[in-house]
Parts: sequence; structure tokens; C-alpha cells
Amino acid sequence: MKISFITSECVPFVKTGGLADVSGALPKELAKLGVSINVFIPRYSLISIDQYGLKLVGELRDTKVRIGNIYVDYSLYHLQKDEVNFYFIDSQKYFDRHFIYTNDTDEDERFIFFQKSVLDILQKLKLEPDVIHLNDWQSALIPELINVHYKTNNNFSNVKTVLSIHNIAYQGIFNRMALDKANLPETKFFPFGPYEHYGNFNFLKIGIITSDFILTVSPTYAKEILSSEYGCGLEGVLQNRKNVLKGILNGIDETQWDPQFDKIIVKNYNYDSINDKLINKIHLLKYANADTNEKTPVIGIVSRLVWQKGFELMEPFIDDLLSKDVKVFVLGKGEYKYEEYFKNLNKKYPDKFFFFCEYNNELAHYITAGADIFLMPSRYEPCGLNQMYSLKYGTIPVVHKTGGLSDTVIDFEENPDNGNGFAFINFNSQEFYNKILKALDLYTQPNRWKLLQKNGMSLDFSWNKSAKQYLEIYNYLLNK
Ligand code: ADP
Ligand code: GLC
Repeated sequence: MKISFITSECVPFVKTGGLADVSGALPKELAKLGVSINVFIPRYSLISIDQYGLKLVGELRDTKVRIGNIYVDYSLYHLQKDEVNFYFIDSQKYFDRHFIYTNDTDEDERFIFFQKSVLDILQKLKLEPDVIHLNDWQSALIPELINVHYKTNNNFSNVKTVLSIHNIAYQGIFNRMALDKANLPETKFFPFGPYEHYGNFNFLKIGIITSDFILTVSPTYAKEILSSEYGCGLEGVLQNRKNVLKGILNGIDETQWDPQFDKIIVKNYNYDSINDKLINKIHLLKYANADTNEKTPVIGIVSRLVWQKGFELMEPFIDDLLSKDVKVFVLGKGEYKYEEYFKNLNKKYPDKFFFFCEYNNELAHYITAGADIFLMPSRYEPCGLNQMYSLKYGTIPVVHKTGGLSDTVIDFEENPDNGNGFAFINFNSQEFYNKILKALDLYTQPNRWKLLQKNGMSLDFSWNKSAKQYLEIYNYLLNK
């Protein structure tokens, strides 16, 4: 089976969030299952050609694709790694920027160009995928571009498309000029029509209408996005396609995130040597020049600092929490107001509240291994990876019961035998704080705490398990 996997970010090359983790791990796992897989990604200038040894694909030098009324050049680079073929689409005009996503006026054009180039390459290199797997709005136009521009082209006559939604809040909404840049027909732009969304052009909506199958990254989120509370205006469109909508829980890349083999943390451990987790805790405390009283519970957060993640819930109780014997570590970057909020807490409580306003993978590992408790009060969470990392590391998660958090964290109070963390049901400060206090209380009871750790650490979050479910969907589509 031949799959082309289209994504706007991918580890180790570029990452802003979990999509990059998924794009780095799932193709590798599919390759192990015998799938022949090509990954397409823009060659942002942030991806160094020399560092990764990318090779120019000579046959496609200076090829052009049409964007509205102009023709734009691209070049193509290739890299084979872990049995996966990576194709990097290079364009100085569109991808030589400081960030991978921008607020520049040609943001729509950048990803229209990306998608048109992908189709051009698939055709010219005769890659003939059975399935094209799209991820988020940046590749969601592909099925419609095929319908409109490649209708009579044999290369695409039997191809199936799968669209993964990693976060429905990001839809790629632009003014109607995007339509012309994509060379799509005006006739489909009318109120309630496929291209129109409250007067604008919406990439994701078109993808939902035109893909053969729609996936999202956890079973609970697949149900949630059918409601107006979570669907961000696309719930109606999704309702119409719910017979081809499914959630498959993301896995975690165990070559990177497993306390037994983690190359970054100072001391590896597993459940049988759980006491060695303490060495990582002391290391974390030293990292921040904090005093190293090992009995003091350490609470960790690693996150993008955006509205989705729900940190305003902490405001009403943070002073009370910090009046107790605790230490809090926050690693994150994002919106100014959250950064300022955490910076001020660090000023007010310099010995207890440590804030690292940066993107730092090493520190993310130190916190995951060194903390006792991990907080994720997300308003919504399509899947969430950090709670799974925490569970694997014996770091007890306290989460809002939503999306993928709900599919992975089992509340100890609800289910004392199988509980692996704490999950509050209603998104409010009181419920969140109650669960944190319950966690702190349980932390003083080592036997019960160890049971929670054991329940979490023994779960299987391997990509192998998830990849098999993807394969089932591909097979289902091909045999339909
Ligand atoms: P999202 O994609 O919504 O940000 P996920 O939980 O799926 O949420 O994935 C977040 C990923 O980004 C995780 O791998 C997490 O460790 C990483 N991450 C987020 N912020 C930082 C940071 N400041 N430093 C290092 N890693 C981070
Ligand atoms: C998105 C979601 C996150 C998910 C990730 C990977 O960024 O916010 O919950 O884990 O995509 O699918």
C-alpha cells in the first residue's frame, strides 16, 4: 500500500505542537507495518539543508505551479530516514520566513502553493499513492483541487483521501480572494455552499466536505466536535459526514518518551526502579537553583500558552496553593498575557514558582520526569500528548475531563482500582483546585500514590497500536 502523508510540521525538522510529533512518529510506524510512505512538508528556511543532508531532486528543478494568474517556482528536496521518504517543497517566496505560521497577508497563498505543489510532484514523480493522508487546514483543499484540476488525470482516478483534524479551532479562514489564488470555481461560493463560510473561504470546511474519510485524534473529541460547544461552527458540516468520522488516539514516540530509555533525563527508571525518579526530581530542583527538599511535591506544566489550555483557571487559587509546601514549574511560550501572568508569579514567589518562558525540549523531559504532579486544565484537547508522557513517567496528571484527556486519564476518585490521575468534570477553578488538593493529599500516602503511578506506567500508548487502526481505515477505503 502506498500512502502520501501531507503535513505542515514534523519532528525533527520543525515543530510548534503535537502535529509535529504525530507526523514524526506515525509514518515511521506505518512503514514498519509494510506501508510505503512519502511525507510532504514545506522546506521552511528554518529547516537546514546541510544539517539534514537534504538532496535536491534534479528532475524537478524550477518547476512551476499556477497560483491565480501567476506561475511560481518550486524546487524539491528529498531525504530517506527510518524507511520513510520525506519530500521538502522549497520556495523562497513562501517559506523563507521567521515562523512556520504567519499573519502575513499571503498566509492562504503559502498553503495553496504547498498543496498545489504536492499534487504536481505526485504526478510528475508518478508516486501514485493509494491514499493521500491530509492533516489540518494546511492540506485540506487537496481533495477539491483533485476534483477540479485533475478530474481526467489517471494518476488520481482511484486515489482516496483521509483528513485528520488535530484541532478544529484552526480552520484556515480567509477572504474570498483565496478562491482565485487556488483557481477554484466561483460558482461554488454562495451562502451555505461548499466554499462559503460566513462570507469567507474556509479550507477545513472544504476538506470535511470532500475527503473520503475524516479522522480526529481521540474518540471523545470525534464525538465532541459534533456539538456546537466544540465544533467551532463546523458541527453541522460534520454531522452530515458522521458516518465517515472516527477518532484514533495518538500514540507517543517511545524512542523519545520512555523513562527507561530517555536519553535526556539524568537517571532512567521504570516502575520497578521508581525510586530513581527522585534523582530526576532533585536534578530538576537544582536546575532552577531551588532548595532540594525531596518531600516537597513538585507540580509541572509544559504547554503552549494559549486560550485552549485553560490556565486562567489557576488565578483564583494560585496564592492559596503557593502558601502550601509545594513547588511549581512552568515551561511554555505563547500569548503575551499568559507569559506576563506566569512571569509575575515568578517575581512574587521566586522560591516556589519557576517559569521558563521558552521552547526547550530538554527541560520538557526534565519536568516530565522530575515532577510529581502534572497539570493540564485544557478547555478542550483534541488528544494531548503531555498527559500521556506524564502517565508513562509516573507523574500524576490532573486534567479537565475533555477530548483525549478524557480517553487517557482515569480519575482515581471515580475508579480507585484503575485510576491513574485526577480529572475534573466541569471547567471551573473550584473543581480543578479540589482535584489538585486531592492529588496533594494522596501524595502523602506513598502506597496509594504508587498504585496510581503503576496504573499509568503500565498503559500501552505505543504508536504501533494506533498505526494499526490507521491501516484499517486505509484498507476499508481501498476495499470499498
Ligand atoms: P498541542 O499540540 O496542542 O500544543 P500536545 O499535547 O499535543 O498539544 O503537544 C504538545 C507538544 O509540544 C508536546 O510534545 C510538548 O512536550 C511540546 N511542547 C509544548 N510547549 C513546549 C515548550 N515550551 N518546550 C518544549 N516542548 C514543548
Ligand atoms: C493539536 C491538539 C493536541 C493534539 C495534537 C496532535 O495540536 O491541540 O491535542 O495532541 O494536535 O494531534
